[in-house]
Amino acid sequence: MSVWRRQNTQLACRSQVVDSLAAPGTQKVQAAAVVQAGGGKGARTADIAFIGGGNMAKSLLRGLIDAGHDAGRLAVSDPNADCRAEIEALGARAVAHNQQAADCANTVVLAVKPQVLAGVLAGMSIPGESLIVSVCAGVPVDGIANLTSKDQAIVRCMPNTASLLRAGITALYANANTDENGRQAAEKILSAVGETLWVDTEAELDTVTAVSGSGPAYFFYLMEAMAKAGESLGLDPEVAARLTVETAWGAARMARETGTAPSTLRRNVTSPGGTTEAAINTLNEGDVNDKVVEALGRARQRAREIADGFGSK
Ligand SMILES: NC(=O)c1ccc[n+]([C@@H]2O[C@H](COP(=O)([O-])OP(=O)(O)OC[C@H]3O[C@@H](n4cnc5c(N)ncnc54)[C@H](OP(=O)(O)O)[C@@H]3O)[C@@H](O)[C@H]2O)c1
Repeated sequence: MSVWRRQNTQLACRSQVVDSLAAPGTQKVQAAAVVQAGGGKGARTADIAFIGGGNMAKSLLRGLIDAGHDAGRLAVSDPNADCRAEIEALGARAVAHNQQAADCANTVVLAVKPQVLAGVLAGMSIPGESLIVSVCAGVPVDGIANLTSKDQAIVRCMPNTASLLRAGITALYANANTDENGRQAAEKILSAVGETLWVDTEAELDTVTAVSGSGPAYFFYLMEAMAKAGESLGLDPEVAARLTVETAWGAARMARETGTAPSTLRRNVTSPGGTTEAAINTLNEGDVNDKVVEALGRARQRAREIADGFGSK
């Protein structure tokens, strides 16, 4: 079976069920939860706590709620009152203090900007038994563990911007402290905004970043260039833009829904001596293929540098 066909089959077979999103031990802790007044850990009154309630967190919340998760068992901390009002409008619980959120659930999703993450983690204490799910781009698990606990179960995720429309793809990597329940819990959270897949090594996430993390921008770049070319060849700008966007959408659907390799789809529509061949030959003469390889290599290198900057080994 070709890789394209296999991927399509996996997409079709993926379970849509969002049942228990509980992290390892959550059920037990919930059952035994005791509200402790005046300090100590609070009761586990939520299933998932989000630290940072911005775009990614809200997309995940909406996805989870639409998939049937009880909104009242989702908690979010964010310093911004308007943001908290938006979260509450979704039916979820919003608090101003990160510690309050982290103490109420066994799964803590880190959804702040990478540049503020170190300060956020330094200012709170995530219980050692909690599962941490990080969507922070470029932040290595060791960087998080250094600021929490070396025994912490951590799943690092690399979603992309299409997650905001629930059309994303997220690659996940679990550290050695994460058990199967933890992996499942993380996967179910990210499944709320699109497809998911696992990588075996954290280093692969740098390549994932280069392919799918930054990937939407490459397609925007090409779409921008195509629309401008159509315009410079005499089309009305709106017409050129619409033709480009719908063509991108149709091409992506064909690749996704037929499971046929893009190289085959391309050959199928490239008649010898025809218009498409004339254009493809020009792209090949400009070594566009090689440039794509070089561009993704540079993106991966930059991802490594950013991860190193955060304190990975
Ligand atoms: N959006 C994407 O397409 C995308 C794709 C891949 C990965 N990610 C990752 O997802 C994470 C979140 O991105 P985003 O796009 O959702 O960013 P965002 O919209 O800026 O959300 C971050 C939220 O965190 C809040 N915040 C700031 N300081 C905080 C603190 N000390 N404690 C708690 N919350 C705090 C921000 O409030 P203020 O606005 O008031 O500062 C904001 O509401 C990032 O690490 C990013 O790398 C995002």
